Amino acid sequence: MTKWAFTQESLCSNTSVSLQGATGLSVSLFIFQETMYIEENTYKNDMISLIFLLKEKVGALAKVLRIFEEKSINLTHIESRPSRVNKDEYEFFINLDRRNTPLLTDIIKTLRNEMGVTVHELSRKKKKDAVPWFPRTIQELDRFANQILSYGAELDADHPGFKDPVYRARRKEFADMAYNYRHGQPIPKVTYTEEEKKTWGTVFRELKTLYPTHACYEHNHVFPLLEKYCGYQEDNIPQLEDVSKFLQTCTGFRLRPVAGLLSSRDFLAGLAFRVFHSTQYIRHGSKPMYTPEPDVCHELLGHVPLFADISFAQFSQEIGLASLGAPDEYIEKLATVYWFTVEFGLCKEGDTIKAYGAGLLSSFGELQYCLSDKPEIQSLNLEKTAVQKYPVTEFQPEKVRRFASSIPRPFSIRYDPYTQRIEVLDNAKQLKNLAESISSEMGTLCSALKKIE
Ligand SMILES: [Fe+2]
Repeated sequence: MTKWAFTQESLCSNTSVSLQGATGLSVSLFIFQETMYIEENTYKNDMISLIFLLKEKVGALAKVLRIFEEKSINLTHIESRPSRVNKDEYEFFINLDRRNTPLLTDIIKTLRNEMGVTVHELSRKKKKDAVPWFPRTIQELDRFANQILSYGAELDADHPGFKDPVYRARRKEFADMAYNYRHGQPIPKVTYTEEEKKTWGTVFRELKTLYPTHACYEHNHVFPLLEKYCGYQEDNIPQLEDVSKFLQTCTGFRLRPVAGLLSSRDFLAGLAFRVFHSTQYIRHGSKPMYTPEPDVCHELLGHVPLFADISFAQFSQEIGLASLGAPDEYIEKLATVYWFTVEFGLCKEGDTIKAYGAGLLSSFGELQYCLSDKPEIQSLNLEKTAVQKYPVTEFQPEKVRRFASSIPRPFSIRYDPYTQRIEVLDNAKQLKNLAESISSEMGTLCSALKKIE
């Protein structure tokens, strides 16, 4: 007997939040093949599973069941529960034999068009249509902690700290801290050693000499605020928690510590929630001007200032939102877009070129080089970006938006900042809610425009 997944085990799995979400039910449908929302054998046993929503009314279910009966379709399983999406509705989960597939299209049409019933097909779609799992709530980012590609303490043989057992042990401490971190907790404060502070001091001092001439306006605008409010000083490594709180007041972006390398898909998904996965350890003291991987200097000096800028935050989130549920090849393209903008982007200020990419702003050598006459600079072209270097660009969110709309995805999504959830827009009620919310915003906009006329 197939059962609806309400067991404790499934509540801990990626399926549960879909069930609990304000709009969760519908997305679960798309990700069924990936997440086993319903027991795996539902699919294997050649069953078709459907969910439909009915208003709480006497005889409503009987009316629907009659349609199946008229086509001589035997339902092998039926289950109900109050809808978590709409308070006055019930959700019904049914199973029927796959041999009934030819009749099903008509039945679903009748239910939808003639009876106005919301129907979701769970398992009729072919495997190839399955949408990769993606987090629906900000809490679900916790899952990524267990999915890192390499643990922070594992260093390559050519890493400056490879032969330093003290450094390696320290790296493990940081990795463990991040691994155990959960959304909502304060980011653990770190007591950095004198040697670590010295390394930071060198990087900080050197880069600061270049910022006025090389960094973009936004970076230079925010940097003094970070010095004032977040402990950005030559002799002090700022705490991620303080910086995260500061960013939240500016743009809603927040930091969360990461134990190692994340996949592009997971990393980009964080951006959809305005969450930036940040390292907390510092590079090896023997080579303060070099790091083979992102470290706290890279995050704090390169990334953080820009995440305090409203347009840049929006731009970064758009890349993240575009990535949710996107096929692998599009994730790769988005990661490349991210690389050539957020990491290595240059922009024009009047006739002058300035750096806004974190990889440039956190590396003395790169920052000097990128504004010299040596690199070949090209404009951002999302179709060709994979083969380009150092694009000149403003943040250009409209380009990312256009690119995002070309990603094959069987639904539209939006981020609800109030609930910190991803909403999948696939039913009339949600669209109506969205229209109402936009209409209210438009009212505010029109009224404000009139007042400044
Ligand atoms: Fe980075």
